[in-house]
Amino acid sequence: MSSRKLKKPVKAVLILFPVILMIAIGAFFLIPEYQFQKLPYSDASKQVIKESEIINEISSKPYSLLLDCVMQETEALPDNWKLYLAYTDELLENTKTNIDALNEKGYEQNAIFRLLSLNQEDIQYVLDQKLTGQPFLLVDARNDGYSVEDSYCLSVMSRSQANAIQDARLPVTQTVALMDHGYSLEEIKQYYNRFSEEEFLLLTQMKYFGDLQEASKEENFRLKYFARYTWYKTNKNCTWKKAVADVNDKKDLLDENSIDYGAYYHDIQTIKDPENYLVLVDKQHKFKSSFVPGDLTAVSSTYGRGYLRSEVYKQFKKLAKAAKAEGYSIRAMSNYRSYNEQSGLYNGYVNANGQTSADRYSARPGHSEHQSGLCFDVTGGNGSMFNYHNDASYKWMLANCHKYGFIQRYRKGKAALTGYEFESWQFRYVGIGPAATIYEQNWILEEYLFMIYGV
Ligand code: DAL
Repeated sequence: MSSRKLKKPVKAVLILFPVILMIAIGAFFLIPEYQFQKLPYSDASKQVIKESEIINEISSKPYSLLLDCVMQETEALPDNWKLYLAYTDELLENTKTNIDALNEKGYEQNAIFRLLSLNQEDIQYVLDQKLTGQPFLLVDARNDGYSVEDSYCLSVMSRSQANAIQDARLPVTQTVALMDHGYSLEEIKQYYNRFSEEEFLLLTQMKYFGDLQEASKEENFRLKYFARYTWYKTNKNCTWKKAVADVNDKKDLLDENSIDYGAYYHDIQTIKDPENYLVLVDKQHKFKSSFVPGDLTAVSSTYGRGYLRSEVYKQFKKLAKAAKAEGYSIRAMSNYRSYNEQSGLYNGYVNANGQTSADRYSARPGHSEHQSGLCFDVTGGNGSMFNYHNDASYKWMLANCHKYGFIQRYRKGKAALTGYEFESWQFRYVGIGPAATIYEQNWILEEYLFMIYGV
């Protein structure tokens, strides 16, 4: 009896054990599948996940919108599922939109995944640019503390160049700008060490000059004077050493009375782009006699008289209003002049005072900036053009006109560079950007055109 009682449970265990084992084994395989099916992944994602045999791993994690989106992409790399999952959907509010936008832009899935680790502002920046060459480099650089702009620049160059820039700790955007201008990385490194921060920035705006390498080795070389060093060296046929030393001593800025103004008329070229706001009109560059700007606009009596080009007039009105707000009254009194008008004016001066005298202050026909419609002679409250430097508005004009795109054309002390003596009254439109640079560097138009365009 007792042995029969003892045998029943043993039998039951023996019978039930395989059943329980089978259920346990079944559950072991079925529960993940069951859990996985309950997760709200799209059918397409589920298919990829199944095919990739990662149901167990996925089913034990919360649903990920990012993973769902990525898995639906034809180029998705299921092997990266851990990486995709590592980014929670809360972190990536705009995940779906970003993926679509990056996808549309042409990024590959792997790249998209990496780019999604950037913050929303950075992603938008990336979307606004052209496709980057190496998105991975962009993300790495960003993680290394580079700005998104710099990181983008690095990502579009070759890895060796990007590494060289990072190793030398060169400022990225500026270095890229210089490389675009034709400088080698070696040259850029040298200039970075040789120049001040301000000069290095200026270099990025300049045209490539091969001889800058040699010139900038000279003691007390200052980049902003490079145009003047070059002109002086050419005129004197001297060494860079002498040019740098003499220009630093202002030996190129001759006394107004020691200049042969007629001698500036040589190797004369006809201007090819007469309507360019940066057109150079001087004793070597002349307009055709037939040239008349196409957009001359009548200046109202409130602002002066005659005609200016429409953009110039628009800017002049802003300038005059700003001056008025500060208590100054300015008017543009001598503006556009035709070739014939200039001819009459110049010949009148020649007849009255002789050609040597006329060449000091009046342009020969075709050589006057007044024919461009870009310049004007100003008067202030005192009403006198020739005495404008004594007008109350004069200092204000010098300090502010660049904000509206104007520069003083024939500056004090620069007669040897312009070929005309100082004219306090003549102002010229060049555009706001160029006017700002000319003001900041304390240049004249000729220096600007040489430094930026090599003209
Ligand atoms: N006064 C300037 C130089 C002109 O005649 O155009």
